[in-house]
Amino acid sequence: MIKSVKKAVKIEGIISVPGDKSISHRAMLLNSITGGPAKVSNFCQGDDRTAMLNCLTGLGVNIKQVKKADALNTDDCFLIKGRGLTGLSKPTRLLNAGNSGTTLRLISGLLATQTFESIISGDKSLRSRPMDRIIAPLTQMGAGIGFTGQNGFAPLVIRGGKLSGINYKMPVASAQVKSCILIAGLNASGETIITQPQISRDHTERMMRAMGANISIDGLSVTIKPTKLSPIDVHVPGDLSSAAFWMILGVCHSNASIKIKQAGLNPSRTGVIDVLQMMGAKIKISNVKEGAGEPYGDIEIQSSSLKNTVIQGELIPRVIDEIPILALAGCFATGEMLIQNADELRLKESDRISATVDGLTKLGANITETKDGLVIRGNQELNGSEVNSFGDHRIAMTMGIAGALSNGVTTITGAEANMISYPGFWTQLSELTGDFAGVDSGIYS
Ligand code: S3P
Repeated sequence: MIKSVKKAVKIEGIISVPGDKSISHRAMLLNSITGGPAKVSNFCQGDDRTAMLNCLTGLGVNIKQVKKADALNTDDCFLIKGRGLTGLSKPTRLLNAGNSGTTLRLISGLLATQTFESIISGDKSLRSRPMDRIIAPLTQMGAGIGFTGQNGFAPLVIRGGKLSGINYKMPVASAQVKSCILIAGLNASGETIITQPQISRDHTERMMRAMGANISIDGLSVTIKPTKLSPIDVHVPGDLSSAAFWMILGVCHSNASIKIKQAGLNPSRTGVIDVLQMMGAKIKISNVKEGAGEPYGDIEIQSSSLKNTVIQGELIPRVIDEIPILALAGCFATGEMLIQNADELRLKESDRISATVDGLTKLGANITETKDGLVIRGNQELNGSEVNSFGDHRIAMTMGIAGALSNGVTTITGAEANMISYPGFWTQLSELTGDFAGVDSGIYS
């Protein structure tokens, strides 16, 4: 699908974004292995949610969507009946994680605790992403993992059970890997200790703790002991990674005012707010609350004069999904934006370093790629052009925001990739820019 976006004259609105994908996945998976019922509301949207639901129902978990249970969350509320860690059933079909790395890696941790054999795979993008990072620790714990294709890549054939706790030093700061091992550790003998090189998002730790897990955190190390989890109802806050698109649109546009209601504010995710504030952005946080161990609140953004900064080191895992959209902000700020130590970006749904450079260069940005990052010389005007999503949701949406900030019209090929995480993205863009004429005339179709 091709979308055309024209430069926005004014940006104004109060919006909500879909439920946080990372928290939703953990709420659904962990509640599935408790011994009782739970409700997850404001569940994430898009194809990645379908991936997680398909894998869990494929393992015999009873998950029902609740229609009109709550006027605010009509279609995003689910009831789960936990089957306990040992109550899952052998899938009769391949478990399909689609495009979702989180689903594949977290479910693999769960499969490693089961005595039956199962096969998990995903789409072409996911089948090309490295799985050795979960295979090594799960194998050390005693799981048997084989491949129906290339070694180290999905489809993975997993046979588990009888796991032993390990003391594992993670080579990369990855929340998916950490969570995979923590889930396996729930049913391993003894304790499992994981040490990360840097702090990565800690939603699994928070939710496990809220469910009564025997989990402790000491600096960069997390220790889990076998535990039976208790079910909890979770109202998922808005996804800060989705909110980031509107934050950058607001601060980079000369006539903008946006309020995003009830977005997640977990400190292991708020790097995007920290970076924008370092750049001089006008951002106000208010109405902060907490639920299921996760802070959330309202974020207000105004047009701002930005100056560029360096994004590197321990900040990287805290902004990992926001780097393409932050690179766009770099184009509108004075000075040079330097992004370093972000090699992991090359292993996401697409090579996001190359994809960002490709799109922003076509719009006239002064941006170059390095082995592990980007250099952007800012203070530029961007001009509409033809760009590509490379089938990656975050690149498609970054290009959509770039279009609203670029002179003329920007045409995005593969724009439907937003369906992975944010089905309402294009409609919300037209609502915020007030360009309904654009919708009718095909500008957004
Ligand atoms: C995620 C962790 C991040 C992030 C991904 C979601 C998660 O990956 O990029 O979109 O939910 O655990 P890594 O921390 O594994 O790099």
